[in-house]
Amino acid sequence: MTKDKSAGLAGVIAGHTAIATVGKEGMGLTYRGYSISDLAEHSSFEEVAYLLIYGRLPSQKELSNYKEQLRGLRGLPKGLKTILEQVPGDAHPMDVMRTGCSALGSLEPEGKTRDQIAIANRLVACFGSILLYWHHFHIKGTGIETVTEDETTAGHFLRLLHGKEPNELHRRALDVSLILYAEHEFNASTFTARTIISTLPDFYSAVTGAIGALRGPLHGGANEAAMELIEQFSTPDEAEKGIIQLLTAKKLVMGFGHRVYKISDPRSDVIKKWSKKLAEAAGDNRLYPVSERIEQVMWREKKLFPNLDFYSATAYHLCGIPTPMFTPLFVMSRITGWAAHIIEQRGDNRLIRPSAEYVGPEPRPFVPIARRTA
Ligand code: COA
Repeated sequence: MTKDKSAGLAGVIAGHTAIATVGKEGMGLTYRGYSISDLAEHSSFEEVAYLLIYGRLPSQKELSNYKEQLRGLRGLPKGLKTILEQVPGDAHPMDVMRTGCSALGSLEPEGKTRDQIAIANRLVACFGSILLYWHHFHIKGTGIETVTEDETTAGHFLRLLHGKEPNELHRRALDVSLILYAEHEFNASTFTARTIISTLPDFYSAVTGAIGALRGPLHGGANEAAMELIEQFSTPDEAEKGIIQLLTAKKLVMGFGHRVYKISDPRSDVIKKWSKKLAEAAGDNRLYPVSERIEQVMWREKKLFPNLDFYSATAYHLCGIPTPMFTPLFVMSRITGWAAHIIEQRGDNRLIRPSAEYVGPEPRPFVPIARRTA
């Protein structure tokens, strides 16, 4: 079958949005008009969450109220804890995110007492609690308290994960990475969320579907796959040899390339700096140099550049985060973008239902089963 130009909807304008620009000439990546480099440098994840969900930057007072509100939404209902205890300890953490979201949709349904903004904030606040309640329950055999006093989502996550005061460098690195992952226009998971919500179901159904779309290695799962790749190599020379072998075998190198960006991913420059800073602080002289060499080889051989997932992998690893939690962290951030898109889609909805070019058999007579030869 010939690969048509619109395969994977590449280059197809599938709707309007006022939320983000990706790779637009003269704009690059912006969230509601603000450049990603300004947001990563000067704002916090909570500020960005507010910007995406409410449509504008908060005032100082609004931000501190918002942080307080999120802090108050970190606890989990008993019914959800029971469900998380039933998810096997060797399940992938993305199973936990998907199940946790879906279960919360039954326990705290959208309706008269809970609107879409309330659910968006609830999920921003408690996705980390969901993952880490399950994680600790299966390690320790007992549940943990998921309410923490940390001001930030990043601090909350690191405290629950490590059971101690978060290291400030790690906390800010994670905070920045959550900003970078928050929103990216019509990527596969967001488009999934918009498609689902266009049929008029509840909010949680769209987010649960989006989590499924995010999980694959061509999308959010790439950060875990990138870590598994980087970790295989002890030295930059070994990495160079390994990458050449992968390319010769026509294998994908995870964390490289992008559907929309053609020269570089502006988010990668930011996270690369953090990865370097974290490596220096940890005295790491393997993972960062190996990553840099992979980047050089990919550019030299294929003119492919790292996307956000590549250096996020080493950054997360250097913050002491287990690799299977990398894609769940993407969920904890992207919930803000998904929420913004669900709200936008609902505001001007039309069922998303494209058409396909038929390439199957011509009309033919039906043969009853008794007369079929094969
Ligand atoms: N490693 C090796 N080759 C790659 C590559 C990668 N990471 N990404 C793209 N290519 C190659 C493709 O094999 C293809 O080669 P060909 O023309 O010889 O067939 C060419 O570059 C164009 O790629 P294509 O698959 O058409 O791009 P796409 O727009 O459909 O896919 C991605 C975009 C992101 C899915 C793709 O780059 C990829 O699979 N990257 C790895 C996964 C990843 O990092 N995902 C996270 C995205 S943020």
